[in-house]
Amino acid sequence: MPRYFIWTIGCQMNKAESQQIAGYLDSAGYQAATSFSHADLVVLNTCVVRESAENKVLGTLGLLKGLKDKHPNLEILVTGCFVNSHTQELRRRFPHVDLLFKPGDYPELVAWGQKQGIPIAQNLLHYPRTEAVMTCPPCALIPIIQGCDNFCSYCIVPYRRGREVSRPAQEIVCEVKELAKRGTKEVTLVGQNVNSYGHDLPGHPDLADLLSELSNIDGLARIRFLTNHPRDMSLKLIETMASMNKVCEHLELPAQSGDNDILKAMRREYTVERYRELVYTIRRNIPQISLSTDIVVGFPGETEEQFEHSLSLIKEMRFDVVHVAAYSPRSGTVAWREYQDNIPAEVKKERVNKIEELQTAIASEINSELQGKEVGVLVEGRKGGKWFGRTRSNKLVFFEDAGDWLGQLVMVRIEKTSPWSLGGQVKITN
Ligand code: SAH
Ligand code: SF4
Ligand code: F3S
Repeated sequence: MPRYFIWTIGCQMNKAESQQIAGYLDSAGYQAATSFSHADLVVLNTCVVRESAENKVLGTLGLLKGLKDKHPNLEILVTGCFVNSHTQELRRRFPHVDLLFKPGDYPELVAWGQKQGIPIAQNLLHYPRTEAVMTCPPCALIPIIQGCDNFCSYCIVPYRRGREVSRPAQEIVCEVKELAKRGTKEVTLVGQNVNSYGHDLPGHPDLADLLSELSNIDGLARIRFLTNHPRDMSLKLIETMASMNKVCEHLELPAQSGDNDILKAMRREYTVERYRELVYTIRRNIPQISLSTDIVVGFPGETEEQFEHSLSLIKEMRFDVVHVAAYSPRSGTVAWREYQDNIPAEVKKERVNKIEELQTAIASEINSELQGKEVGVLVEGRKGGKWFGRTRSNKLVFFEDAGDWLGQLVMVRIEKTSPWSLGGQVKITN
């Protein structure tokens, strides 16, 4: 049986697409391998959001060149945001790559498979993907909208993923029903801006409508969605979240900066005041909400004072999680064209460290409040001899037990907390 290995970096969308590709290869009779060197076919699912990610891709492509020299029959497929429109040039630069296909361009993958004599998994193109979905993880990622129409000045994503295209609601419902029937308990709906879901579909259904439909699916216990653009987060959506038991108290709401001039230069189209107001509205409606955010530091021209405004926002909002990144100029973006990357690398690093230090202290306080409490955990797997899963608020919880808890919703009494995870003893199942 031929074997495949999928290497994935980047966002949840890439992870979701890797799950889909794995489904395609499973249904074509391939078996998963544990590393590149054990595989007959490798897929690189790439990210270029920052230069550091792109460098990882280039490094891995170099490594695979060496492997292909030794094993000329190795098939190498590359997808994800590294694949730009200049495929001819990419092919010339990386002659050892057998197929380059844009994110989500499965017809291209299937056509290639056909040429190789790999059975076509039609169900990768038509829903429900009954056979392509061989394994149903307890927690599945479901792409609902591709691309992005926003063009934040620093961001390469719209150039690589194109304009927004929503998946028809019926197709999504069908897929989630099928997954739930086969044991999936939680779905995370993914997209670059899930808040704009549906604007391009007939009848313009929105995310709140989709959540209502998914909430009716038997067997499904939890629904999450990400990422949310603060500009497009509607009151209807907040109220829908608050009223639906299955929708988890968890939101990824990237602020990007706590300074209005920087937000303007970033083309985020909201102010700090509007962001703050939004968080208050969300907290009023959903008191248990757990919030994550993204912050970019060292955007061109960011002064010490402007950076301090991001620190103040973090202090004030007390997010559960903050993903902080140093600005990285991406060729073709507005910021790359119009601004000089003039914040020295050491200063960016220092700012990243300051935010991480502050957030570690905040998350440590927030999580320590769970000490001694019982929390519901959906068990996703095992790591280092321990079971792990997440609470509805997306806190990672570990516990040790000899039983088989995979895919089960259990109560765990928290005995240990840290800024990043919780640990405890399993109590009751339901
Ligand atoms: N759609 C999401 C984010 C997608 S990109 C949103 O609108 O927020 C994921 C994260 O990478 C972003 O939130 C941002 O914080 C970071 N990012 C994007 N471009 C970047 C760049 N050029 N340099 C540094 N960080 C960047
Ligand atoms: Fe990038 Fe902005 Fe689109 Fe997010 S909303 S993917 S940051 S352009
Ligand atoms: Fe990276 Fe593309 Fe996601 S650049 S963050 S993989 S949309």
